[in-house]
Amino acid sequence: MVAEIALIDITPGLAESVALDLNHASGITRSRSHASGGTDLTLVRDAQVVVVTAGRPRTPGMSRADLLEINRRVIRTIAEAIRTNAPKAIVIVITNPLDEMTTEMLRASGFSRNQVLGMAGTLDSSRFRRALAESAGVCVTDVEAITLGSHGDEMVPIVSRARIRSRPLTDFLSEDAIQDCVQDAVSGGGQVVALRKTGSAIFAPAHAVIEVIDHIRGLRVGTVPVSVMLDGEYGNEGVVLGVPCHLGMQGLVQVEELPLTDDELVQLQKAADAMRSRLGA
Ligand code: 2OP
Repeated sequence: MVAEIALIDITPGLAESVALDLNHASGITRSRSHASGGTDLTLVRDAQVVVVTAGRPRTPGMSRADLLEINRRVIRTIAEAIRTNAPKAIVIVITNPLDEMTTEMLRASGFSRNQVLGMAGTLDSSRFRRALAESAGVCVTDVEAITLGSHGDEMVPIVSRARIRSRPLTDFLSEDAIQDCVQDAVSGGGQVVALRKTGSAIFAPAHAVIEVIDHIRGLRVGTVPVSVMLDGEYGNEGVVLGVPCHLGMQGLVQVEELPLTDDELVQLQKAADAMRSRLGA
């Protein structure tokens, strides 16, 4: 995917060790990528894409919103380093609470909205598709479904447009079973935290980031749900929300306004209003 990967972590030696370990694998993977690692934020210099996972992860019993203040400080420090060293970079934010941290990255970096993407809906949509496939007893490749809104309680799984083998969900599942799948998507991250106890999910978020990057680099086409600053889309502006986006090498190309049910639009508005109130906007 890339020629150069720079890993940064505040723990001395950690990023270097992972980089060396990845480079050792190249004798088998024959990958042309070269990984480097360090503690210095200037390692982002001239990056095309910066994936920001830094910050405190949740532990059992914590909501993503509980991380707001501590991770806000982390994001501000990183935003300054990116603005100084990689002013043209596309920033993919993973740090929780995702929508708030994406907002903070935009504010602290001063970047335009197309450069800052929050990775959440791609992950939540994957959890929603998997829950539907499990419940209906079909392969996950038979399921099309996305979630919009926030990466948390105000997540909006779009049931009206979800399909199993190109048919409506109600051809396969009862309303209760569908709502169970919605809840499974909303609580998916918390389920992993409750089991892991010392942190949050790794592999599904990682694959979701790769999906976003593949859309940025044109390997995948069509829309992908990411959190972006709205500019009138879905009747909102000035608030970060998970919406279907066309991406390209410049980051956000266009927000797609899908025809949603009145209830789904109401839920999206609730997510936007909750975000504004959490940010004191
Ligand atoms: C999750 O939902 C880490 O927020 C991420 O797993």
